[in-house]
Amino acid sequence: SGPKPAYRIGFSQCSTAGPWRQAMLAGMQRELSFHPDVQLHMLNAHDNSQVQQQQIRELLRTGIDLLVVSPYEAGPVTPAVEEAYRQGIPVVLLDRRTASRQYTAYVGGDNLEVGQTAARYAARLLNQHGTIIEILGTPGSSATSERHQGFAQSLTAFPGLKVVSQVNGDWTEKPLPGLAAALKAHPEVDLIFAHNDGMGRGAAEVCRQLGLEKKIKIIGVDGLAGPNEGLDLVQRGVLTASVLYSPGGEDAIRTALSILNKQPYKHENTLGTIVIDSTNVRTMQQQTDKMVTQQQDIERQQSLLQRLQATYASQQTILYGLLAT
Ligand code: FRU
Repeated sequence: SGPKPAYRIGFSQCSTAGPWRQAMLAGMQRELSFHPDVQLHMLNAHDNSQVQQQQIRELLRTGIDLLVVSPYEAGPVTPAVEEAYRQGIPVVLLDRRTASRQYTAYVGGDNLEVGQTAARYAARLLNQHGTIIEILGTPGSSATSERHQGFAQSLTAFPGLKVVSQVNGDWTEKPLPGLAAALKAHPEVDLIFAHNDGMGRGAAEVCRQLGLEKKIKIIGVDGLAGPNEGLDLVQRGVLTASVLYSPGGEDAIRTALSILNKQPYKHENTLGTIVIDSTNVRTMQQQTDKMVTQQQDIERQQSLLQRLQATYASQQTILYGLLAT
């Protein structure tokens, strides 16, 4: 057992499935690599609010200095998060919110803005006239209600745009049977707004099967790098656009440490968004490629430092050995 960690951060993660959540965790670990004395203890709720409640209480029992939580559904997870907060444990909401104002800080994108951005982009794409299907995330997730609300709000400015059907995609790309039915009932549909790129990818597959891939434009959300993710899908024309939504792992840890170290921090930490389409996708890809190489450079430097330290330590051992004789 090494030295006692300076802080123990509990992380209640709604799910670890999919590259977006993996990118979030990688970001947290990247930031934590600069703070080896801080411990992160993550529990994965596997998209189950009951499990997530229990896990938050378990984290509280085992003793944590701060709770980071990405709630699966806002309502059911709220009581346990409020318990933490009332016990004096600072709470950082990450990406999704609870239904309560009892939290210390929020870190993540503005999901209302994500929906609004998608609506305005759709209006431009369709010259303000057309028919839309919306594919929603899990009904109880705050990201779903906020993306939906923002989308609906901004569409009211465009009476020529109509949402004819809403399909629940549960944040996953599993075949969307509801979508095929909706498309058959509304063959005139011009555009699909999917609350994330995974569901957009699923929608593209359904459109392809129905021979509609040329006619229907798809907007997703996330804009992640990597094969078959948002940037790649936009680059290949599978999606017309993706609204960037950053996982924010680094930012969450930075905010958590400011809170723990009693340094100034913001209550709302909004990560910016932007539409990624054919006009800027190459630039975005080059940027993320560059970040990957820079990260690799940092890791190479870290391992070089470790080797130097090991050499130094063994030389000291030899030196002390010599001095002792
Ligand atoms: C991943 C995810 C993302 C989405 C976010 C919303 O679990 O579904 O695709 O943007 O969660 O909270």
